[in-house]
Amino acid sequence: MIAQRFFKIISPVLLACVAFFSVQMNAANKSFYPGKQWPDDKGVHVNAHGGGMLYYQGKYYWFGEFKSETTSSALVGVTCYSSSDLYNWKNKGIAMKVSDDEKSDITKGCIIERPKVIYNKKTNKFVMWFHLEMKGQGYAAARVGVAVSNQVTGPYKFVRSFRSNPGIYAANMTDEQKNMSLDVKNYEKWWTPEWYKAVSDGLFTKRDLKEGQMSRDMTIFVDDNGKAYHIYSSEENLTLQIAELTDDYLGHSGKYIRIFPGGHNEAPSIFKKDGTYWMITSGCTGWDPNEARMFSAKNIWGPWEKHSNPCVGEDAKLTFHSQSTYIQKVEGKKDAYIFMADRWTPKHPIEASYIWLPILFENGKPVLKWYDQWNLNVFK
Ligand code: DGJ
Repeated sequence: MIAQRFFKIISPVLLACVAFFSVQMNAANKSFYPGKQWPDDKGVHVNAHGGGMLYYQGKYYWFGEFKSETTSSALVGVTCYSSSDLYNWKNKGIAMKVSDDEKSDITKGCIIERPKVIYNKKTNKFVMWFHLEMKGQGYAAARVGVAVSNQVTGPYKFVRSFRSNPGIYAANMTDEQKNMSLDVKNYEKWWTPEWYKAVSDGLFTKRDLKEGQMSRDMTIFVDDNGKAYHIYSSEENLTLQIAELTDDYLGHSGKYIRIFPGGHNEAPSIFKKDGTYWMITSGCTGWDPNEARMFSAKNIWGPWEKHSNPCVGEDAKLTFHSQSTYIQKVEGKKDAYIFMADRWTPKHPIEASYIWLPILFENGKPVLKWYDQWNLNVFK
């Protein structure tokens, strides 16, 4: 009896709640909610982790890793979503599928991370670059993969995977460094002053000279003049390298530099404002968050200068529990850039959320502050 009366009273309330939440789910988003689940056009949390973005013909295209329930390995491929306002995303499906062929570099079960797509005006092709690890080899391969498509949403055809710039020394290594003989066998103990000096002089560059430089966490940056650059964690994740791409964006041109040797930077993201390149990276702590780092340069080839952590306020030392992946310019707004980051959940990778925050400028420098909710009006 009591139960019946309780149900009579409570059921209209429940119905109202269900109706309210389904309207909310279908209503167009007008804000960003960092750290919350982000429903796509079908009400499913966006599955595009370690993502990157391309603005093409009036639309934004968000590419990212399809993460599964229990593993971060690639069981599906790279996803693509589109949007005209950055708040509401339409699932455009799998842009690049993993292969069923066990012999393929991108066979199901390999690791595909941080895909970035750029458009080549000369060839009229869309080119995807991504970090690739071979199936069953953990993170040992440290390769970069390239795939191409005639349409922005794909399908992207895998072209090849490789280490960076085999046989070529970095343009900012001195002749003395090039001629030095350094052997990793003599530097088995890491983090000592001698080891730092050797890393700085190219200990791992030399070890990998023949095979090519290691390439893990990465981004791709296209400059105003159309030149594109691959920026990646190399040399056992100790040193960042910036490598110029060929004009067709399908490979490296052979020119590259090493920056912050021994600095242990991952997750590079970059933008350019008023002629200055700003780079935001993370430290190296696996899936756990750490303190963001920031660098700037007037010339992509350096010199690069280190600044303090751009994050301020509570949890700034953990980048608000996230790790950078990309910085997207907001089209049609001056000096408006969005910092995109991932809040990883390695035990349940599919659930990982996105931390998008506006890049604000204080005293000419980028600053990141936490917002529970924000919209593009934050940009003046
Ligand atoms: C941190 C990297 O930034 C991620 O992309 C991923 O490679 C994890 N490490 C794996 O531990």
